[in-house]
Amino acid sequence: MKTQVGIIGGGPSGLLLSQLLHLRGIDSVVLEKRSREHVLGRIRAGVLEHGFAKLMREAQVGERMDREGQIHDGFGIAHDGRVDRVDLKALTGGNTVIVYGQTELTRDLYEGRDRLGGVIVHNAEDVIPHGFDTHRPFLTYRNGSGAGRIDCDFIIGCDGFHGVSRQSIPRDRIRTFERVYPFGWLGVLTRTKPVSPELIYARHERGFALCSLRSPVLSRYYIQVPLTETVEEWPDESFFEELRRRLPREVASALETAPSIEKSIAPLRSFVVEPMQCGRMFLAGDAAHIVPPTGARGLNSAASDIYYLYNALLDHYSRGDSGGLENYSQRALARVWKGQRFSWWMTTLLHKFPDSSAFDQHLQQTELDYLFSSPRALASLAENYVGLPF
Ligand code: FAD
Ligand code: DHB
Repeated sequence: MKTQVGIIGGGPSGLLLSQLLHLRGIDSVVLEKRSREHVLGRIRAGVLEHGFAKLMREAQVGERMDREGQIHDGFGIAHDGRVDRVDLKALTGGNTVIVYGQTELTRDLYEGRDRLGGVIVHNAEDVIPHGFDTHRPFLTYRNGSGAGRIDCDFIIGCDGFHGVSRQSIPRDRIRTFERVYPFGWLGVLTRTKPVSPELIYARHERGFALCSLRSPVLSRYYIQVPLTETVEEWPDESFFEELRRRLPREVASALETAPSIEKSIAPLRSFVVEPMQCGRMFLAGDAAHIVPPTGARGLNSAASDIYYLYNALLDHYSRGDSGGLENYSQRALARVWKGQRFSWWMTTLLHKFPDSSAFDQHLQQTELDYLFSSPRALASLAENYVGLPF
């Protein structure tokens, strides 16, 4: 098979890029390791910034998001037995976020690709990018129909943190930056009315907790757990009991529970690879950078990568101008690092670190006190949470 852009990974980044390119007459093929059901079974992001939503609309897949997504003007931070509100709209001069699940967004992208006849090869095993240092890169893979080869002009690695694209780049051509946190998030999805119409991020001496939602009848809750623990060690009753203990009393008493319909643990990690390109292969989204989920930046950081790549490819194909491709990494990384800083800061502010000293704990408390006593500090939090411009 021959195409213009060979995309590895059919998560939100890969699907969005292929849809945007298709609408501007640029051909692509997406190779996805898993089945469509598997990809749609992942429960991940819930909070989208408007920059991402704008791209979804440009890709002609934003209709359901605009109908069913909920605009959130603010969120709460619970600490010291109370909830303080971060009024995003007031603090940013009118900006908000959209609560719309990654699962739904991915479904919309698949439907968009199907509608236009986009090519997505599922269950593509042993995908390997070849020749990205030459003018003739190509991808090889295996699936139910045998071995396949895709010749293309460019390879885009959208295959997440564990994907093959970044790992195929020679070690001496990249540098990685990483911080692994000594805890994870145990997440539970339940068919219940959310405990609060707005998200509540909770700092507590027993550990962090987050009350989030997907719709007026679907709740998403998280608690910080040590990395040594497993889902099996957390039956629903224990999960909700621990969640209640980490919330202010009036919030805890309003919490409705029901059997979980999904439960998983996500480790927390900060990671960046530099540069985000090697020859004719470009990395985007989680393939190039990971953030701890605390600031809801992960998918939103992928959005700016896709925006820069999409425009760079358009310039290349429509005007023969390859400047955008040459500068992609530099441009993308400038925003990626700001997302890293914010996610690290939110994580440090709200989690319990097992090795923190009394001094560290004092600083954490002081940071929170400062935040809610300084409109300028709160405005900085809000500006980052709604998403910096790209
Ligand atoms: P992925 O979604 O990881 O997609 C990569 C795809 O590539 C996958 O489908 C995978 O199967 C495929 N693949 C992997 N290896 C190969 C291979 N070798 N060959 C072919 N295909 C391959 N972000 C936010 O912005 N807001 C939030 O509120 C938020 N909350 C989160 C909560 C949790 C608990 C977690 C874990 C993450 C959260 N994120 C959030 C982060 C967000 O989910 C990710 O940043 C996002 O999924 C990145 O999309 P992606 O397409 O780049 O990568
Ligand atoms: C959700 C996840 C996040 O990481 C976050 O910061 C907010 C919400 C969620 O899954 O709903």
